[in-house]
Amino acid sequence: MEFREFGKTGHKLPLFGMGTYYDPGWIAAAKLLRMKPRSDMHLKAINTGLDNGINFIDTAEIYGTEPLVAKAISGRKRNDIFIATKVWRSNLEYDSVIKACNGSLKNLQTSYIDLYQIHFPNKRVKISETMRAMEYLVKEGKIRYIGISNFSLRQMLEAEEALKANELASTQMPYSLVDRKIEKDILPHCREAKIAILAYYPLGHGKLGSENASLSAAVADISRNHGGKSLSQIALNWFYSKHENVFPIPRAANPLHVTENVGSVGWALSTDEISRLEGAIFSAK
Ligand SMILES: NC(=O)c1ccc[n+]([C@@H]2O[C@H](COP(=O)([O-])OP(=O)(O)OC[C@H]3O[C@@H](n4cnc5c(N)ncnc54)[C@H](OP(=O)(O)O)[C@@H]3O)[C@@H](O)[C@H]2O)c1
Repeated sequence: MEFREFGKTGHKLPLFGMGTYYDPGWIAAAKLLRMKPRSDMHLKAINTGLDNGINFIDTAEIYGTEPLVAKAISGRKRNDIFIATKVWRSNLEYDSVIKACNGSLKNLQTSYIDLYQIHFPNKRVKISETMRAMEYLVKEGKIRYIGISNFSLRQMLEAEEALKANELASTQMPYSLVDRKIEKDILPHCREAKIAILAYYPLGHGKLGSENASLSAAVADISRNHGGKSLSQIALNWFYSKHENVFPIPRAANPLHVTENVGSVGWALSTDEISRLEGAIFSAK
């Protein structure tokens, strides 16, 4: 597996991580039935990634998958794995952040979280209050790095400003070949400030490529140039070939898909191929 620096942290992460948001039905069932539905397949998918060097897992208190992540990493060396989780937007007051973090630590059966992210901003709670709690958690050794998710650029700048003893490590935003909104402002800022981006919905939430003839033609040609790579492998490689500091997190639900995604690493798209892919999406819009 290839690794790259995660923002300014000095920590190295594999080129992609594993998402563990399955669906709203999963969240409800995980709460009611204590993660019964298809959990064996999800567990196998996460373990397939870990066995292939994808030691970077993204979860959230709201997903109901922290216990599943704990199960997947049990028996492995904790220090070898990078766990990113998130505090939900209703828990952003000082005491609530700390309580939520303790809950996540318990769910994950670990003494520390590598990356603790604010899942969504909450206008009713000052970001300075939330960040004070986050910095307390860093001081206590309960979290290593602080991240945000779904913040606008303005909200992101406020978050950075609110941090006193730490720097913002990352933001998590929707980003893919079919959704490039962050390229307008968030991405240039992150590049400049060396803040990592976790790209969610990197495969267009499963809709990438559907009914797009020009993309299919571009993918067929590019695939031929690279020994038969698939649409998903090409779509993930697009991130690594284009950026230094963006880590897509396709969901790990199916072991076959995880194995396929491992094949997105170890080769590179040319500048012409990148333009061809982007042009194909643009022409279909
Ligand atoms: N911060 C936020 O607010 C937020 C919001 C949403 C998601 N997320 C994070 O982002 C992660 C990814 O989002 P997502 O799962 O919704 O979107 P995604 O990864 O873009 O798309 C998932 C879809 O792609 C399919 N897929 C995965 N690998 C594939 C492959 N190699 N070939 C073909 N299809 C493949 C999956 O099918 P299978 O299930 O069959 O593999 C699933 O249908 C989540 O798990 C979560 O950790 C964060």
